[in-house]
Amino acid sequence: MMNLDKNLVAKRFRKSLTTYGKNAVVQRHMTNRLGEFIKDIPLEHADSVLEIGCGTGFLTEYFIQNFSFNRYVANDIIPECADYVDMISPDVEFLEGDVEELALDEKFDLIVSNATLQWAEDLKGVVSKLNNMLTDRGVLAFSIFGNRNLEQMSKILQRGLKYYSVDQLRELFSDYKILLIQDEIIKLNFESPIDVLKHIKFTGTNALTEYRWSKSGLKNFESQYKRFYTSSEGVYLTYHPVYVILEKTNS
Ligand SMILES: C[S@@+](CC[C@H](N)C(=O)[O-])C[C@H]1O[C@@H](n2cnc3c(N)ncnc32)[C@H](O)[C@@H]1O
Repeated sequence: MMNLDKNLVAKRFRKSLTTYGKNAVVQRHMTNRLGEFIKDIPLEHADSVLEIGCGTGFLTEYFIQNFSFNRYVANDIIPECADYVDMISPDVEFLEGDVEELALDEKFDLIVSNATLQWAEDLKGVVSKLNNMLTDRGVLAFSIFGNRNLEQMSKILQRGLKYYSVDQLRELFSDYKILLIQDEIIKLNFESPIDVLKHIKFTGTNALTEYRWSKSGLKNFESQYKRFYTSSEGVYLTYHPVYVILEKTNS
């Protein structure tokens, strides 16, 4: 387990809220893929849905447009996300809070989350908690980032979030009935390493630690990035989405 500064996570995501919609192209793609995977599972009914880490509402909107349900509760650690989901539908109930601290008595048929659970300090613990919040035969469907995510950043800067490989995730969830676990690699092209940094800032992904760039540090970053990660369009950045669908397990 690692120590995450949750205030910093919230601060960085809050700052990126207005730029996220335009820049988070991978998270948008993940929404659509996760949604397609959910459509394929034999879900008996999903009257009530809980979404973890709704952000600006990519997945919330997808659900409103593609599924029917009676109750949709959208959670995020940032209170301002309430305004975003309210604009999507006033019927969505917003629930502020850290998923790792959520204490709800009620149960949901479906719990979903897009591109959020990599921010959990204790992923296994969160999944166990969410499993307990499912009705019988309920389903937990989420996307998360795998071990090659933003690998250029972690290789050059020697730090990054703890991302799991698909095998590690399979092992972590071995007590559950895994309905799906599938990953993909996506490479985004940018004109320059500075554009990579801007992209990371605009999507709030720089929430791990406070980092102040010195002139020489930035120069070194740019030259290493150009040396190792050049593409025909400039430089590239790797994303590694993993899609996981688990069925409720009674333990
Ligand atoms: C990469 S964004 C994804 C947002 C949205 N699901 C999407 O697909 O666009 C991650 C979101 O998770 C939220 N978040 C991070 N840690 C969280 C936590 N511990 N509990 C609840 N939400 C959290 C952030 O505030 C942010 O809105």
